[in-house]
Amino acid sequence: MSTRVQQLCSVRSCQEVAENTFLLRFISQEIASSAEPGQFVNILASGNGAGVLLRRPFSISRVEKDILEILFHAIGPGTKLLSRKLPGNRIDVIGPLGQSFHGNAEFDTAFIVAGGIGVAPFPFLTDELLKRGKRIETFVGYRTAGQAFTSNLQHLHLATDDGSGGFHGTVIQLLESSFVQDHSGKIKIFGCGPTVMLKALGEFARRKQVCCELSLEGQMACGFGICQGCAVERADDDGQYALVCKDGPVFQSTEVNL
Ligand SMILES: Cc1cc2nc3c(=O)[nH]c(=O)nc-3n(C[C@H](O)[C@H](O)[C@H](O)COP(=O)(O)OP(=O)(O)OC[C@H]3O[C@@H](n4cnc5c(N)ncnc54)[C@H](O)[C@@H]3O)c2cc1C
Ligand code: FES
Repeated sequence: MSTRVQQLCSVRSCQEVAENTFLLRFISQEIASSAEPGQFVNILASGNGAGVLLRRPFSISRVEKDILEILFHAIGPGTKLLSRKLPGNRIDVIGPLGQSFHGNAEFDTAFIVAGGIGVAPFPFLTDELLKRGKRIETFVGYRTAGQAFTSNLQHLHLATDDGSGGFHGTVIQLLESSFVQDHSGKIKIFGCGPTVMLKALGEFARRKQVCCELSLEGQMACGFGICQGCAVERADDDGQYALVCKDGPVFQSTEVNL
């Protein structure tokens, strides 16, 4: 069980690593030591009293000793503020939050499937799966090749919507065209990306009868189960809702209706 802490953390670096895509590294021994792949941090992106009021959630992209990485698109006020952070600046971070991927379950090969910035949680998962001796195939789709940032991933298969790099089409089409059921070993799929992609991936896993975990990245506010602002419908008949921040962000694909 991870221990959640709130801390002012020192920024180590923040760099643009692909088109409008930033890699921010910050120091927290406490969060780094208890974080698991699939969990996220909630960051207050303010600076000297200026900034946005609500925290912004980001997948923990990688952990190296006491340094954590997040990978993000600068799309609005919070992420634009974060993208301008300099070494030594402080950021207010709560984490680790949410439920992790289950990387130690019974399978031999992991199929990691990511759409755009949905690649963020997978370097951390890749590191953990390699320690457990799992084989990994990684499928990543972008709108265009300039957005691709694929460091610390294994056996990469790239797709772009505009054909500027790798397979010309969506990451799900790429997965469909290259998926060969390996009867000698058990496969598990791990997915993260836009909801429309996750829905297609869940459907693909159902057809192939492969176990699949999805990390959802819907809007959220409080980040730990108080505001109910991140509800997602459960797939069972009783119309119950799950909270992405507390019950997720990682769910079995059969567990939720997207
Ligand atoms: C569990 C979780 C993990 C996440 N991990 C990452 C990550 O690793 N990297 C990353 O870049 N982003 C991630 N996100 C999304 C990220 O939190 C938002 O991009 C961020 O909050 C935007 O803040 P902002 O102030 O810059 O923009 P806002 O002003 O809040 O939003 C700008 C525009 O983007 C839209 N938007 C905001 N959030 C989302 C979203 N989640 N999905 C679709 N559209 C959205 C808004 O509707 C608005 O149109 C994650 C979200 C969740 C819930
Ligand atoms: S973000 Fe508040 S309950 Fe999930």
